[in-house]
Amino acid sequence: MLSSFLREVRALLETIDESMAQEFVSLLDRAAAMTPLTDPAPCPVPDLARARDLATPATCPAIDALLASAGELRWSRPDPAVVPPGWAHRSAMTEIIGSEGAIAPATNERFGIFLLDTECDYPDHWHDAEEFYLVLAGSGDWTIGDTTRTLTAGDYSRTPSRAHHAIITRDRPVFTVWGWSGDDTTFDSYRF
Ligand SMILES: [Fe+2]
Repeated sequence: MLSSFLREVRALLETIDESMAQEFVSLLDRAAAMTPLTDPAPCPVPDLARARDLATPATCPAIDALLASAGELRWSRPDPAVVPPGWAHRSAMTEIIGSEGAIAPATNERFGIFLLDTECDYPDHWHDAEEFYLVLAGSGDWTIGDTTRTLTAGDYSRTPSRAHHAIITRDRPVFTVWGWSGDDTTFDSYRF
């Protein structure tokens, strides 16, 4: 059930002593009374089950809950008309909470899941909203400004508003949750 997945993500975020992580703990608490999605769409990444082999003992309960609830979500790919070529067809995203969220509307936050297959380059971009990623399985190289850091399962990253950032995967895919927060969480400022 999707509620189980949200509970597991909440438990992981609760261990992170960082203000945006705690903001989303509160958001997930408020989303507990959610409306089931009526128009799910299948996840376009075929080897979703591989996430289980790339999780840690700490993140495996969240991945198990994700695999059990993936069919309840409305998955999509980044719009190839909007993003640079070469990677959108090998990624998948779903917004669970937010203005386009599946289960709970929100105005100042968005929350969802993002998957990026192996050998993908999600190139440098920025937006007004602050952003966090919490990796549940696999790994990727996150560049924020001039700093690059490899994130693996359990790692958390926060990107300030308007900071340039990029994600590159190598021989492993990455399975991550993400959140946006701020006065402007529209995609109006999303730029490559
Ligand atoms: Fe971003």
